[in-house]
Amino acid sequence: MEELARGFFPELFNRSGNKGSGGSSYSPIVLPLDGRREEPARRKAADSDKRVGNEPLSKIRADFPILSEMVDGKPLVWFDNAATTQKPKQVIDRLTTYYERENSNVHRGAHALAARSTDAYEASRAKAADFIGAADPDEIVFVRGTTEGINLVAQSYVKPMLKPSDEIILTYLEHHANIVPWQMIAQETGALIRVAPVDDAGQIILPEFHKLLSSRTKFASLAHVSNALGTITPVEELISAVHSFGAAVLIDGAQSAAHMPINVSAMDADFFVFSGHKLYGPTGIGVVYGKQALLEAAKPYQGGGNMISDVTFGRTLYHNPPAKFEAGTGNIADAAGMGAAIDYVKRIGMQNIEAYEHELLEYGTRELSKIPGLRLIGTASRKASVMSFVIEGHSIEEIGSRLSEAGIAVRAGHHCAQPILRRFGLEGTVRPSIAFYNTFEEIDSMLRILRQLV
Ligand code: ALA
Repeated sequence: MEELARGFFPELFNRSGNKGSGGSSYSPIVLPLDGRREEPARRKAADSDKRVGNEPLSKIRADFPILSEMVDGKPLVWFDNAATTQKPKQVIDRLTTYYERENSNVHRGAHALAARSTDAYEASRAKAADFIGAADPDEIVFVRGTTEGINLVAQSYVKPMLKPSDEIILTYLEHHANIVPWQMIAQETGALIRVAPVDDAGQIILPEFHKLLSSRTKFASLAHVSNALGTITPVEELISAVHSFGAAVLIDGAQSAAHMPINVSAMDADFFVFSGHKLYGPTGIGVVYGKQALLEAAKPYQGGGNMISDVTFGRTLYHNPPAKFEAGTGNIADAAGMGAAIDYVKRIGMQNIEAYEHELLEYGTRELSKIPGLRLIGTASRKASVMSFVIEGHSIEEIGSRLSEAGIAVRAGHHCAQPILRRFGLEGTVRPSIAFYNTFEEIDSMLRILRQLV
């Protein structure tokens, strides 16, 4: 018990690692493992002392104006971070500055504001490249978000090479956005989709994954973190297995990019996609990373301005990537906003974010599992952010609305991932999902409501 308490509340232990006896001025809180709750005042003190890396949690929370909102007279608790994250004022201010001082289309050289907006857009591309360890900003294509990114890769890179009976590999963990685009191109080309199964904890069964691979494998598109269960997949091993059959891999980073350091070069991903709005940035902006040679080989699936070097009525010459895939006016302001979001999380440190969120996740998971009748869905040994569950005798709608009445926002539904929920015999779960601005106290508020319900 003491080991666990030390893990969750290191600040409550003195330097020798013992509980605070030997003359220290505080008395220790030992995490109760028998379902009893701590004294609320004590817990509050623990939260207000918390830091994420060097940054006090109280200062982080003050950066997010919406976290001070009251909902029906109760403080908002935002546990719907897997759906979208809240925005710090640094991101909100960046959008305002863009529209007040820089707004223009991006055609550098035309005039002063065009230079400013082009600088803002390209600076964000460079920040995105650096954030995920890409070798070059030209390997970053701006899109609306993860969904558009996966569709782009499916239509531009994969579809042109598919022949009947070629195979595309997915896993049971995929979000609909990483299923439907592949079905669409499989139907058009006669290719087949093969799906790797998961075990009862929600982990990919690796021997089964390996068995799916063959000379027919032409592409694999794989979740990094499951949005419905929180499972972190072993992407390095999966990518290397697919590469050994000469096929390329897309990693869906929608649920990983905000929760852990990402290095696409180290993992050797061929494509990696993520959304700005799940990374504390604006909606409507996201990223496709693609290795340069693959982006060069891909055909653009949208045509228009900005992506051409020369047009006649007989033919068009395209720009090199990434411009080749960015037809029309891009989402310049939101790209700048996403750059500010990347600056923000980098300052705090992705490793620090990962470590703090892990403490919250361990605590929440352990306490949830003590609630009578509660079944956790997704109990993988490596997880991020998500605590999906159902409670016997209570519908997910009932639980979701009881939490909502208390100001606690969770998603209750199928999470756009019906196949994985059906694998567990369910049509939906209640899904609290945490971010680094959440607190132990907020988890206690949720637990309190759930205990009252059962
Ligand atoms: N993909 C988002 C979610 O999991 C919308 O809620």
